[in-house]
Order: sequence, then structure tokens, then C-alpha cells
Amino acid sequence: MKENDAMSERLNLFQRIRYSVFPGTIDRPRYREPYRNFFNSLVLHFRPRSVQKRTLRFTLTWGLGGMAVVLVCMLFATGLMLKFVYQPVPDRAYESIIHLQNNVLFGQLIRNIHHWSAYALLVIVFLHFLRVFFTGAFYPPRQFNWIIGLTMFLVVLTSNITGYLLPWDQLSFWAITICTGMLEYIPGIGEWLQGLVRGGSDIGPATLSIFFAIHTAVIPVCLLILMPFHFWRVRKAGGLVIPRRPDEEESSEDEKAPTIPNLILREIVVAVVLIAVVMVVAVFFNAPLEAKANPGLSPNPTKAPWYFAGIQELLLHFHPLFALFIIPVFMLITLVSIPYINYQTETAGVWFTSLKGRSMAVVAALVAIIFTPIGIVADEFIIDLAAWMPNIPGEISNGLIPFALMLTLTILFYKVMKNKFSSNNNEALQSVFVLLVVAFIILTITGIWFRGKGMALMWPWEVSDLIP
Ligand code: HEM
Ligand code: HEM
Repeated sequence: MKENDAMSERLNLFQRIRYSVFPGTIDRPRYREPYRNFFNSLVLHFRPRSVQKRTLRFTLTWGLGGMAVVLVCMLFATGLMLKFVYQPVPDRAYESIIHLQNNVLFGQLIRNIHHWSAYALLVIVFLHFLRVFFTGAFYPPRQFNWIIGLTMFLVVLTSNITGYLLPWDQLSFWAITICTGMLEYIPGIGEWLQGLVRGGSDIGPATLSIFFAIHTAVIPVCLLILMPFHFWRVRKAGGLVIPRRPDEEESSEDEKAPTIPNLILREIVVAVVLIAVVMVVAVFFNAPLEAKANPGLSPNPTKAPWYFAGIQELLLHFHPLFALFIIPVFMLITLVSIPYINYQTETAGVWFTSLKGRSMAVVAALVAIIFTPIGIVADEFIIDLAAWMPNIPGEISNGLIPFALMLTLTILFYKVMKNKFSSNNNEALQSVFVLLVVAFIILTITGIWFRGKGMALMWPWEVSDLIP
């Protein structure tokens, strides 16, 4: 007892308060041990005891998977808070957001955090997907985790779309009108599916209620099931893919480091920095809110949410059947089959497959950066396939013909790259992937910033509101 009193006299005020809550935790390792053991064993129920030392390198993962987890947690926490105030009926939804922003303590901040975390999540998950692809982390035994990842990507996309409608302002109402309008072009079931999603023929009370239920119940449940499944597969694969230099042989060396503190400390740093960045953005930039939704007055231009701007841009160049159905489905099937057709597993863990793969990726990116804008401008001002072939149905003149042309050019690109660089299949396929991803990013940027009234091409400084 005396020993304790003597020690507490040496403590400063802060330490004394802490000591009153956790006696024995200050400069007394003997007493601290049980607490540490408790927390360590809690953490080790979820994490492996040790990890391969080389997988701790920041340049393998860039912390992206961990950031996605942190953002999902932030969305769950702020989403639950929003639910206390938000009312999912057209007469009250917009008003409840105004009330939240003006009268609820930290209401605006909570909404901002939810809004920016949702956007950040999409970007981070996309970057995580690219890192997994470019480090060859989808080869066996990680194939199925690639599929789980893709499913989660679609879930995150759906949660963004369903959340987008909830504020019920002009922006959200018309963006979702465009999005759900796209469903109509799915052959056979399009109209039925659109009716199902909208809960009727138009966007109205039923749509809001369906979107709210999906957003706040179905999606969280899906994520709560898929995320542990995703992490379990990482464990089952023996941890992350082991990074190595292009000239380095695959080694069987097994140098491990304890998870605590090595991995946990890195994860905490990434989480703290990310939370700080989101908080700063949320303090300085408010989530947009326009006038209350008016089904009788569509804004010009009426744009889809920014993550669909690429598809909306595609719609300006191809027949809807191709822009909204055939091309996206073709891409999705390709993405799903990547780990099953591409089987040269010996490059797993090497960024961009090899040194040659890196050069080819740079060339592919440059080709996309140069030719995508040229194609967009040419199609806007010069090419008019439908007018040139007036007697041929639009599905063919504006759909099949340009699609077949693009496909032929892509195959040609693959062959030229393979021959010019005397590369293997992996490297050539990777350059096609880079070409398509960069082209899609350029389409998205064009859709967001370079389309104005009537969706005509324009320079961004002509629009007053640049934020999508
Ligand atoms: C909400 C979405 C997602 C979350 C929360 C998530 C989370 C994670 C985490 C924490 C890891 C381990 C650390 C890291 O690699 O950074 C990981 C690994 C992995 N993820 Fe994801 N991920 C998501 C989406 C995706 C997507 C879209 C894909 C690909 C299509 C994907 C495929 C993989 C694969 C294959 C691994 C194992 C990588 C390796 O062994 O090196 N994930 N994910
Ligand atoms: C992956 C998870 C999630 C994503 C990506 C997401 C995304 C979004 C987006 C983009 C909005 C529109 C925000 C705006 O511009 O104002 C929104 C609103 C909303 N979300 Fe989420 N959300 C997620 C999870 C949740 C959860 C778990 C809940 C509740 C259980 C929730 C409840 C709400 C509510 C009530 C709104 C309407 C308030 C508002 O628009 O400000 N969200 N969400």
C-alpha cells in the first residue's frame, strides 16, 4: 500500500487521473502485463500471430485494403447516426436533411463525413483493385478472393447509388432517374427490372423506400458477410502475396515478424492519417444539397452520379444496347475470368509482372491518353455512323459496327505490343488492361468536366459548378 502511495505522489495530474481509473498501469510492467495480454489476445483472435516480414512493406499494399475497412466503419457509424434524423418519405426526406444540417448538433459534419467517406471508399477500392491486379495477387490460391472482391466492389457501388437518392434534391432525383433509366436497355428483362427497382414506372415514394431499405439494411448485411469472408481467404492463402523485384527468384525463405506490434502499429498509423484527412475535408467542404426534387423540372445537363459518368459518356458514342449492356457485361465477364485464364503464376508479387511489363504499361497508358480524346472529339464533330447508314438499324450502325471496330483495334494493339516488345502473354494482356482502364478513366473525366448543356463538349471553366 505504502509503495502505491509513494508512486502516486510522483505522478502528474493527468497520470493521477489515469491511475485512478487503471491502478497499476503506470511504470509498473508487472501490473500492466494482464491488460496488455487481454488486448493482445483480443486482437489475435482476428489476426494471425505473425506475418511474412516482406508483406509489411508499405509499397505492396499502400494500406489500401485497410483504408477501405476504416471507411466502411466510418460509413456504418455515421450512417447509423443519420438514421436517427432522416425520414425516407418524399414529403419529409429533404426537410429532414435541412433540419439535420441546421438544427442538429454536428448534423452537417456527420453528413459531410458520410458523404466524403462514401466517395473516398469508391476511389480507394478502385485503387486496391488495381494494386491487386498489378501485383498479380489474383493467381491461385487467391483466385476466389478476386471474385469476392469484385462482388464487394458492386456492393459498394450499389450503396453509393442507393445513398445518392436519399437527400431527395434535384441532383439526386435526376441522377437516379438517369441511372434507373439505363436498366431499360437490358434485353428481355429491362423494363421489368426497372419497374422492380423503382417500385413503379416513375421515381416516387416507393423508390425512396426501396432505396432506403437496400441502403440501410441489405447493403450493410452483405458487407458484414463478405468482408470477413474476404479476410478469411487472405488468411487461408497464407497471408498476402510476397512482393519481390522483377529479377528476384521466388524464394522459400520464411522470415516472419510478430503481428503485434509490427502490423498493428502500421494499420493504426494508416487509419489515424485517413480519419484525419476525411475530417479535414468534411470540416471545409459541405456535401452538396440543391433545391428540393421537382419531378416536373429536369436540369440541363442531367448527369448521372460521377462514378457513372464514364458509362454515360459511352452512351453518347454507342447505341444504348451496347453502351449500357453489351460492353459492361463483356467487361465484367472478362474481369471475373482474369484469374482463371491468366495462369502464368510465377510473376505473382512482382509489380507490373516484369521490367518489360512496366515499359509496356507506360506505352499503353500513353496510347489511351492520346487516342481516347481524339476518338471522343472525332465522334462528336466528324463521325456520324447513323446518318451515314440511314437504312441500317441503330443497333448495327451505332452499336455492332463501332463495337466490332473497337474490338479489332484492341486485338491489333495486343498483337503489335506482343511483337514489338517480344513479350509473353501476361505482359501483353496487362498492357490491354492498362489501355482499357486509362480509356475508361478519360471517358469518366470527360463526362464529369467536359460536358455541358445538352451534353455537348465544352471546356470546364464554362460551368459554374465543377463539383459533380
Ligand atoms: C469493400 C471493399 C474491399 C475491402 C474492405 C477489402 C479489404 C482487403 C484487405 C484489408 C486486404 C488485405 C490487405 C491489402 O491488400 O491491402 C485485401 C486483400 C485482397 N483483396 Fe480486397 N478489399 C475490398 C475490395 C476488393 C476488390 C474490389 C478486389 C479485386 C477485385 C479485392 C481483391 C483482394 C485480393 C485478391 C486480396 C489478397 C491480396 C494479396 O494476397 O496480396 N478486394 N482486401
Ligand atoms: C458502404 C457503406 C455506405 C455507403 C457507400 C454509403 C453512401 C451514401 C451516400 C453516397 C449518401 C448520400 C449522401 C449525400 O450526398 O448526402 C448516403 C446517405 C445516407 N446514408 Fe449511407 N452509405 C453507406 C452506409 C450506410 C449505413 C450503414 C447507413 C445506416 C444504417 C446509412 C444511412 C444513410 C442515410 C440515413 C443517408 C441519408 C442522409 C444524407 O443523404 O445525408 N448509410 N449514404
